[in-house]
Amino acid sequence: MKKIFLADHAGYCFGVKRAMKLAWDELENRENKNIFALGPLIHNKQAVEKYEEKGLITINDIEDIDSKNVNPKEVIIRSHGVAKEVYDQANEKKLEIVDTTCPFVKKIHELAKESYEKGKKIILIGDKNHPEVIGINGWCDNKAIIVKELKELFDIELDYSVEYVVVSQTTMNEREFDVIIDYLKDKNINMVVNNTICSATKVRQQSAREISNKVDLMIVIGGKHSSNTQKLVSICKESVDTIAIETKADLIDFDLGKYDTIGVTAGASTPDWIIEETIEYIENGVI
Ligand code: F3S
Repeated sequence: MKKIFLADHAGYCFGVKRAMKLAWDELENRENKNIFALGPLIHNKQAVEKYEEKGLITINDIEDIDSKNVNPKEVIIRSHGVAKEVYDQANEKKLEIVDTTCPFVKKIHELAKESYEKGKKIILIGDKNHPEVIGINGWCDNKAIIVKELKELFDIELDYSVEYVVVSQTTMNEREFDVIIDYLKDKNINMVVNNTICSATKVRQQSAREISNKVDLMIVIGGKHSSNTQKLVSICKESVDTIAIETKADLIDFDLGKYDTIGVTAGASTPDWIIEETIEYIENGVI
């Protein structure tokens, strides 16, 4: 009989739960309204499909909403948040806005905006292609220095005449964040560091680390495009064989037979039912 360990903190975080509830409530009361989500509501295909079945229309650009159409229209801003410019565009188009930006992300927007307006330079630690990072950068006129890894800093000429304000994408790996901060401290620049990795990310990374030290295999469940899921994968890989899956179906061709102890964790946008189904599959092998 296999031993299965589920991480103490896994799956939907506070910000995702809140966003999903706000969006669902809108869909329940939508009457003749068209409701658009700016980008997939969360990085989980299966969950997004449920919302789309209920009437949610996913678009990638606010310009895709035709403002001439007479139906009342509403746009949902997802938990990753967006740049200020997107609110301006939505207002110009006279769209109703349902803002589900996670409060932890909102706080970073405020920090970036206030600091930038005071003439400080923003260093943003994160992935420049991730929507959350694109959104944060949009609150400081797209002028942040964005770095994901230490080596990216080597080519950047630091300015000793300004004050830097450092913030982070909420889902950064804490160890990578610390390495970058240590380097900046060594450079003796004038800076204020804000560790804005959110608490949900921290506890998920910590529990993933804990169980990956006591199992033969880690299974990380989450969307392929989910940044926090990818971070969990790399953390688990530091200690043990690790596979990343979106649903239990991805396990069919995988030989679980040789592992006696298996750990399971899941990214912040993985619904409970997908975690439960996966555990059931590991236990009973039935799809
Ligand atoms: Fe918010 Fe952190 Fe989740 S920023 S959306 S609570 S991963």
